[in-house]
Amino acid sequence: MNKTLYLTTPIYYINGSPHLGHAYTSIIADVIARAHRLFGKDVFFLTGTDEHGQKIVEAAQKSGSPLAHFIDARAQEFKEMNTLLNISNSNFIRTSSDLHKKVVTEIITSIYSNGDIYAGTYRGLYCVGCEAYYSKDDLIDGNRCPTHQQEVRELEEDTYFFKLGKYQDKLLEYYEKNPNFILPQTRFSEIYNRVKAGLDDLSITRTSFDWGVRFPFDHKHVLYVWVDALCNYISGLDGIKTSTFARFWPPDVQIIGKDISWFHTVIWPALLLSAGISLPKQVLIHGWWTVEGDKMSKTLGNVIDPFEMSREYGSDVFRFYLMYNAHMGSDSNFSLAELKQQNNAVLANNIGNLVSRVVTLLNQYCNGTIPMITEFDPEEKKFIEIIKDNKKYVDEISSYTIRNALFDVIEKFAELNKYITDRKPWDDFKQSNKSRGEKTLAMICESIRFLSLQLDPFIPIKAQEIRKSLGTMNINLDFDFKYSAGSKVLAEKRILFAKLE
Ligand code: MSP
Repeated sequence: MNKTLYLTTPIYYINGSPHLGHAYTSIIADVIARAHRLFGKDVFFLTGTDEHGQKIVEAAQKSGSPLAHFIDARAQEFKEMNTLLNISNSNFIRTSSDLHKKVVTEIITSIYSNGDIYAGTYRGLYCVGCEAYYSKDDLIDGNRCPTHQQEVRELEEDTYFFKLGKYQDKLLEYYEKNPNFILPQTRFSEIYNRVKAGLDDLSITRTSFDWGVRFPFDHKHVLYVWVDALCNYISGLDGIKTSTFARFWPPDVQIIGKDISWFHTVIWPALLLSAGISLPKQVLIHGWWTVEGDKMSKTLGNVIDPFEMSREYGSDVFRFYLMYNAHMGSDSNFSLAELKQQNNAVLANNIGNLVSRVVTLLNQYCNGTIPMITEFDPEEKKFIEIIKDNKKYVDEISSYTIRNALFDVIEKFAELNKYITDRKPWDDFKQSNKSRGEKTLAMICESIRFLSLQLDPFIPIKAQEIRKSLGTMNINLDFDFKYSAGSKVLAEKRILFAKLE
């Protein structure tokens, strides 16, 4: 049986439409999912929407639509974003679904039965945007949320607490035993030290609103939206006692933004420890995007819309740009000028031009057919070995440094460009050295096919178009000239990547 890989994105709040941040998290996950499928893994890729809580109710009221219509329409928008960006998720979980609510109730019942929930009152400063309490020290000027910049509200309510503090030692032990649990490494010590400093118990129910999952032991309360939401990683596998759960749990990697690392590396593992469920293996934390140097925000009117980007430049160009600049450990800055410049330099010049150059030469000198070669020269054989060596690519993908994997493929394309320029096959054909010219072109065609497979996870549509141009459609990671020899290439020249002005 194939090895499995279970990976997740956060589930997205539906109070607003999908934006660059959501697209980014989902594309990272999609690249990892597609690459691992290529390596032969049995992949389950979960994403979805986070639909409960005060801010969703407020957004629905503001929109003037009934809540049920509002959440359906917004969830649909996120599904459309996935289709447009070619996100290859296996399931899409919505927290308003009956299945999800049932699973949350089961998990919270185990935690309760384990004696880890008790009644109390809570007073604190609450940010509706984050759906989280803050201590005064963490706020800007003592009253504004560091993420949303908006004023927090003072809330006092009867609540039930989860004994988070009880799990401090067990969490520390898990981190120590699994030093790669939190990636990139630079984020590890930040979390470790905060947990080491001590953990307060966590208020996990609310009485101030009722749009959520009822707390099964006191119906005046609904569950805190974060506890509800985190359980999606289990309801997305159809719940605990299911064959999907048995096959895929625990997650191999949970991909999240830096703002929600506490929930995923501390609260979620503690809830799982209490419920007696094994812990996720890794959490991959990415930085945030600013836009042309500013924080992306509705107020500044600089929110990047993935729909508009895909319409304007094509989803693969958008995907490529985000992945080419995806610094995991730090923030990145979105710039349209840079998107255009990188499209022109890397996609159009380095990759697209090479493909169209080879297609033109084959049409001109080889009857539009990739020549059959029985024996390559030593110089070619040496070069084939360089192209064939995909260890670095596989290692980079497997350790989730996917940007480096992309750089590695692009570098190989640059080597191919250099090779064709040095070998000048057009001269060979003109000077009746046909066999040498044929060997060069055959070698380059097969190299392009091979490398295009490694581009698949990043630019799935364009990578396939590359293979179509060469008439070589096999989807496997084999490097074998038998596959492409005799293939008919496209008769007419086609521009794979248009230059952007
Ligand atoms: N609903 C919660 C997650 C619950 S998971 C159990 C949530 N949703 S969110 O819609 O606000 O954010 C989802 C993801 O988008 C997060 O990983 C967040 O980091 C990411 N981003 C939001 N804005 C972003 C940028 N400007 N740049 C990059 N990613 C950003 O949090």
